[in-house]
Amino acid sequence: MTSICIITGSTLGGAEYVADHLNDVLSSQGFEVELFNQATLADIEGKSHLIVVTSTHGAGELPDNIQPLFNDLAASSADFSAMKFGVVGLGSSDYDTFCNAVNIVENALKAKGANQVCKSLRIDVVNNFDHDASAEEWLPNFVEKL
Ligand SMILES: Cc1cc2nc3c(=O)[nH]c(=O)nc-3n(C[C@H](O)[C@H](O)[C@H](O)COP(=O)(O)O)c2cc1C
Repeated sequence: MTSICIITGSTLGGAEYVADHLNDVLSSQGFEVELFNQATLADIEGKSHLIVVTSTHGAGELPDNIQPLFNDLAASSADFSAMKFGVVGLGSSDYDTFCNAVNIVENALKAKGANQVCKSLRIDVVNNFDHDASAEEWLPNFVEKL
């Protein structure tokens, strides 16, 4: 059975709700899912499939709960070449730095050799009011490439 690790970057909880929903959907499809809202490098090292659900905060920055992980990742010599990953972002198009955390995550994981399996989803909270449905619609793009 394919095991999927989901991690969240969230300040106000929105990304965590979306991750919870993806967890439910994937579990109902028979995947083994692990979900971390405060992931450490040890939590994701050696994982074959990773979904990062993250909002953007500050001026195009990662939320505080996920920043330490990406600091540690950048400083590590981790080899993620066996990892496939996908990214779901929540952000607001009111900001020039719309969903920039998605770019940060993509670049950081690729820098460690991880393989992006599909185009990232960037949910604009200004005009998208059903984040769970959008993420669920995106999910087959990730799952079909596993
Ligand atoms: C202080 C603050 C800064 C933000 N900065 C950005 C930003 O730079 N880019 C962006 O796309 N969205 C930005 N947003 C919008 C959030 O990403 C959006 O509200 C998101 O839904 C929050 O998700 P969360 O509840 O998981 O933290 C910001 C929101 C706040 C409150």
